[in-house]
Amino acid sequence: MSLRNCLYIIFLCFISFACLCNAKKPKNGGGFKGMFIFGTSIFDNGNNNNIIGTLAKANYPPYGVDFAAGVTGRFSNGKNVADVIGDYLKLPLIPAFADPQTKGDAILHGVNFASGGSGILDETGLVVGRVIPLNEQIRNFEGVTLPELERQLRCQRTEILVDYLFLIGAGNNDYLLNYFLLGPMGQSPQAFAQRLISTYSDQLKKLYNLGARNFLLLSVYPLGCSPVVSRGQGCLPGPNAVVSIFYDQLISMVNQIKSQMPGSEILVLNSVKIMTDIINNPGLAGLSNVSNPCCEVSSNGLSCIPNGNICANRNNYAYFDGQHITESFSTIIATKAYTSSDPSEVYPFNLCELVHAHL
Ligand SMILES: *[C@@H]1O[C@H](CO)[C@@H](O)[C@H](O)[C@H]1NC(C)=O
Repeated sequence: MSLRNCLYIIFLCFISFACLCNAKKPKNGGGFKGMFIFGTSIFDNGNNNNIIGTLAKANYPPYGVDFAAGVTGRFSNGKNVADVIGDYLKLPLIPAFADPQTKGDAILHGVNFASGGSGILDETGLVVGRVIPLNEQIRNFEGVTLPELERQLRCQRTEILVDYLFLIGAGNNDYLLNYFLLGPMGQSPQAFAQRLISTYSDQLKKLYNLGARNFLLLSVYPLGCSPVVSRGQGCLPGPNAVVSIFYDQLISMVNQIKSQMPGSEILVLNSVKIMTDIINNPGLAGLSNVSNPCCEVSSNGLSCIPNGNICANRNNYAYFDGQHITESFSTIIATKAYTSSDPSEVYPFNLCELVHAHL
């Protein structure tokens, strides 16, 4: 073969490779090629670090004391629920959107957009300063990450996104920093939940229209059990009853929008049930201290004091600060999401089944 023919063939290969959609099934056996993560501080892994004028930050010790990379901005001593779900899916740690390194092939396993203090509603979180509301997180995904992913993989968004899990943990701050803190302002718990759920439903449809098909939604935590709310009194039934209304309406909404989102699967984790069951029976899960924060918290009871004292036996604590859970508790919750066969814990079926349906 002449040199000229050979070069011509190489050129053709190069051209065809460049046109080839690279949205192959992942080979890691974990089912999904990656995760896009949205929500609050329960998932934030550094997006708030460089925001000027927010109180919702965890970029200082003792946060990260048990995390391999140390302080990252995660609101925990170690891994959060999203990190442990990533482990089950055999994925690497998903990078924060705000990290300048999160570009090029660093986005191929997904990106984390979550922001501490943020809400389903844009106005939630104003009390802690500037945060990135869920709507803005979705705009960041649509405007920045998705076009870059299409360039990287040379595929259409709909071909790409079917292989990613959309993990969303939203709503906690709409209660904690809005409805509970600022007061109901004439809205009944049902009416407030309705407002949240109707906004959330639009947000899910927006992601669906961009190509998202597989969702795992963490419902609002039993905020009446958080040390910042309960002040060591165990679980307060009042606030838990209010957030349970959110869960009930979320299930109805998901059942309703499935018909408008053909080809989608939406799993919902009942955080209230899973977490209160464990808090009421901590020994079964290997926990012993479920009502006090592990770290020394600031006077508002919410965040760890920078370089403050921490408990020694962190594996036995449910809460690391006044609101955020330890790696131990996160692992228990993520394991429920992946393995529980009880639809009152993860509805309508678990993440492991979703993975196997996807292999
Ligand atoms: C739980 O932790 C707090 C703070 O570290 C401590 O004061 C309390 O005695 C502990 N309670 C139990 C039951 O271990």
